[in-house]
Amino acid sequence: MAAPCTGQRWRGNVARSERVGADGCRIDVAIRGGIDQVRPSQFFMLRRGDGAGPLLARPFSLYLQKRADGADELSFLLKIHGPGTRSLAELGPGDGVELVGPLGNGFPQIARGEKIVCIAGGVGIATFPLVFETAIAEGASPGDLTLCFGSARADLLYESERYKEYGIRVLLATDDGSAGARGNSLDLLKSEMASGAIVHKVFACGPERMLEAVARYCLKQQISCFLSLETRMGCGTGVCNACAVPVKPRSNGGWPVAKACREGPVFDARNLVLEERHQF
Ligand SMILES: Cc1cc2nc3c(=O)[nH]c(=O)nc-3n(C[C@H](O)[C@H](O)[C@H](O)COP(=O)(O)OP(=O)(O)OC[C@H]3O[C@@H](n4cnc5c(N)ncnc54)[C@H](O)[C@@H]3O)c2cc1C
Ligand code: FES
Repeated sequence: MAAPCTGQRWRGNVARSERVGADGCRIDVAIRGGIDQVRPSQFFMLRRGDGAGPLLARPFSLYLQKRADGADELSFLLKIHGPGTRSLAELGPGDGVELVGPLGNGFPQIARGEKIVCIAGGVGIATFPLVFETAIAEGASPGDLTLCFGSARADLLYESERYKEYGIRVLLATDDGSAGARGNSLDLLKSEMASGAIVHKVFACGPERMLEAVARYCLKQQISCFLSLETRMGCGTGVCNACAVPVKPRSNGGWPVAKACREGPVFDARNLVLEERHQF
């Protein structure tokens, strides 16, 4: 098996922090040191620099990466759940943050001309801005990229107005119909397919039950599908085994489980052992 990936340690300071939607928070962290370009859907382990939050860092996808005033700025979009996310959301400008990363594999590179549909559920959206920015920087046409973004309500469609700025197609859905179509993000993909859209690959990130449903649908339609899993993690660096994901052994050198932090978080849907326990 591969050796644990220790990831690089960084110290940063909050440049900005703002509430997003009903329960979200965007944190922009300035870091001096020069971080290489991060691949879309790679992640960082984050915790507070003052030790006031939980000892165990929590994993977050990189939302945006830019250089500003000679420092790297890494942005994260958090849904406030429990102690880890709450303690990070309480940070203000100048407060310290400890980070380890970038970690994990990321989505596959998008070839020119490939038509990609990105399916986001709730805070799963956090992984996609970097997909669009990277793909467009590497030569993809924005018109070949579609975002299907679904959430329970309008105020949980985090920063939904922003994504149109990339020139991509943005389709929205909410369970209660308060914004976009009534339904979920998989319904948006189904409508696209029904209208004859060509889809070469689907990238998805969101709640487990959504990912399973997207995977089953894509496998049935024979569409190549990659899922970014938000498995619970302990270390994020391949040491603790908290992030085991059942996989088809032939995809993983004969092992029936893979570590989401090392071999993921992105998996080809064909290689995952899907549960049939959720309705979506
Ligand atoms: C690779 C990766 C990338 C992620 N990216 C983001 C991101 O960009 N933005 C974001 O908001 N979250 C992201 N997550 C999920 C995030 O790490 C968890 O929400 C966070 O660890 C919860 O910590 P907490 O202490 O606030 O809550 P906890 O006290 O740990 O948990 C509170 C509640 O949230 C649930 N929960 C905890 N972890 C997860 C999880 N991984 N998935 C689903 N439910 C969970 C628990 O079951 C519990 O009900 C990502 C997870 C992974 C593995
Ligand atoms: S989170 Fe520790 S091994 Fe993956």
